[in-house]
Amino acid sequence: MAGKIPRDFIDDVLSRTDVVDIVDTRVKLKKAGKNYQACCPFHNEKTPSFTVSQDKQFYHCFGCGAHGNAISFLMEFDRLEFVEAIEELAKLHGLEVPREQGTTPAMSQAKKLQQEDDYSLMEQVARYYRHQLRSHPNSSKAITYLKGRGLSGDIVKQWDIGYAPSEWDGVLKTFGTTSQRVNQLIELKLVNQNDNGKQYDFFRDRIMFPIRDRRGRVVGFGGRVLESDNGPKYLNSPETRIFHKGQELFGYYQVRQNNRHLDKIMVVEGYMDVVALSQFDINIATAALGTATTPDHLSLLMRSTNHIVCCYDGDNAGRQAAWRALENALPVLKDGVKLTFMFLPDGEDPDTMVRSVGAEPLLTMLDKEALPLSRFFFETLLKTHEAGTPEGKLALKTAAQPLIDSVAGENQRAMLAEELAKHTGEYDRFRLQQDIAQANQHASRPGGGASRHTVQKTRLSPVRTLVRLLLDTPSLAARCDEVMPQLLGGSGIAGIDLLTDIHHYCIQHPRTTTAQLIENFRDHPHSSAIAKLLQQEHLVSETEQERVFKDSFARLLDWHFDSRIETLLSRSRIQPLSRAEKEELTMLMKERQSMH
Ligand code: UTP
Ligand code: MN
Repeated sequence: MAGKIPRDFIDDVLSRTDVVDIVDTRVKLKKAGKNYQACCPFHNEKTPSFTVSQDKQFYHCFGCGAHGNAISFLMEFDRLEFVEAIEELAKLHGLEVPREQGTTPAMSQAKKLQQEDDYSLMEQVARYYRHQLRSHPNSSKAITYLKGRGLSGDIVKQWDIGYAPSEWDGVLKTFGTTSQRVNQLIELKLVNQNDNGKQYDFFRDRIMFPIRDRRGRVVGFGGRVLESDNGPKYLNSPETRIFHKGQELFGYYQVRQNNRHLDKIMVVEGYMDVVALSQFDINIATAALGTATTPDHLSLLMRSTNHIVCCYDGDNAGRQAAWRALENALPVLKDGVKLTFMFLPDGEDPDTMVRSVGAEPLLTMLDKEALPLSRFFFETLLKTHEAGTPEGKLALKTAAQPLIDSVAGENQRAMLAEELAKHTGEYDRFRLQQDIAQANQHASRPGGGASRHTVQKTRLSPVRTLVRLLLDTPSLAARCDEVMPQLLGGSGIAGIDLLTDIHHYCIQHPRTTTAQLIENFRDHPHSSAIAKLLQQEHLVSETEQERVFKDSFARLLDWHFDSRIETLLSRSRIQPLSRAEKEELTMLMKERQSMH
């Protein structure tokens, strides 16, 4: 790991960069008044709501909320890490990225050069394999094999598929021109050296698939035998200093290149599957490289899409592979990401499937038949745990709970927990716990909760919204007489006193203006809270104000009633309620019902 990039340098790079140029070379921009516009590259849309401001050096999408500067654009659009994005910008301006001396030394210049040289050698070897497929005396059997697999010449070219001839020293001889080069070939695992010091090509007599990293550099190879009795069906490059299987996906680079926006990405098992699908114009498939799908793989995919479909054989091995992928996915599974599992009919893989049914029906199958995560999760667990008995329920819970706890996304976790509660018959208790947690959360949230740093970004709480709207349009108080903050006087909701005071003032002075209102609250204990609120945009249009005002109050009442009901209910489980409390509970429940 390299040292930190100095803050000054980042500022400098940004000041030299024009975000309009950065965006425009990737998404064609149109001038619109002071700003530039385009259809948003981060979500699907037909009319442009993506705006780039040259003044602010900032982009913002009114449709999906994506926003940021040149660095964030490169991170989002080119899928670069923070450091990579800065390197990219620095390169544009011919700048060397400096590193602070930290605990970890910066990557040395020598190492960087070595790496560049590795990539270049790998690319040359890929070209060599490609060339052999066209010109090696024995290449006709490789070509026949590829034709027999139904691959077109175009597709073979597009995927840079090649042929490693059946020789012990093809690569060794061609590239091992110096002892240094030979060492490099060994380090990149293109050449093996046995215990006797004898050196020979790693891939022989195989169809070669170059594996590219997400920036398009060749980092490894997969090689398939032509005849089934010739060693393992696939040989993959072992791990090297530039190849980490757990992080690379075959086809990911091409998927990114071929699609601006990805509704979904397929994860399939084989190289051939990816290639065959692309021949049928399905350019959304990637494959793990002879390993299980790792958390790193899934994180990478989630940066590009909100829907990942994992495709497997319908047989036992396929189900097991899918389950492993599921286990690996849970700790990185973010809210808002859909993970589904497609099981193909026994004996089929995406390659054979697309050839037998065609692209459209296969895509329809993916949409209609893939199992949602929760379904696959419980179907699998319920196969081994008999949920009909108390013992089975307990075993189910024991198996499921740690997996559920490992889920990254709060909503995804809650969804699985809720399902589990249904299967174990604890649903009612689950609901109650949830309601209480929610009521507590809400009770402490209004008005107070948000930290100073997030205030600008977070949506306003109901109390804040009510105050904010009153500050803008004091006449709302008189117009909406069902909004009665005084009802919540003793509720302890944060910010309720400020709201009550301002609301009271507005009722008393129905024709007051914002300026007057603020003047009147200058020495109020809450004046600084008011000032802060005034700095925030509420983005509520004039026509919507009344509705939002009323809705916010309704939500506030909801929360209050809920939490009061929960308090009374939990008290009732410990001791009988007093008569007054019982009456209050009945009243609250009735009130609550009439509101829905
Ligand atoms: P499969 O055995 O399902 O083969 O392996 P396939 O992809 O359908 O290949 P074809 O159609 O027979 O050519 C799926 C993946 O598992 C890895 C490879 O990445 C392969 O694409 N694998 C398989 C190996 O790494 N080694 C093997 O010996 C077999
Ligand atoms: Mn296959």
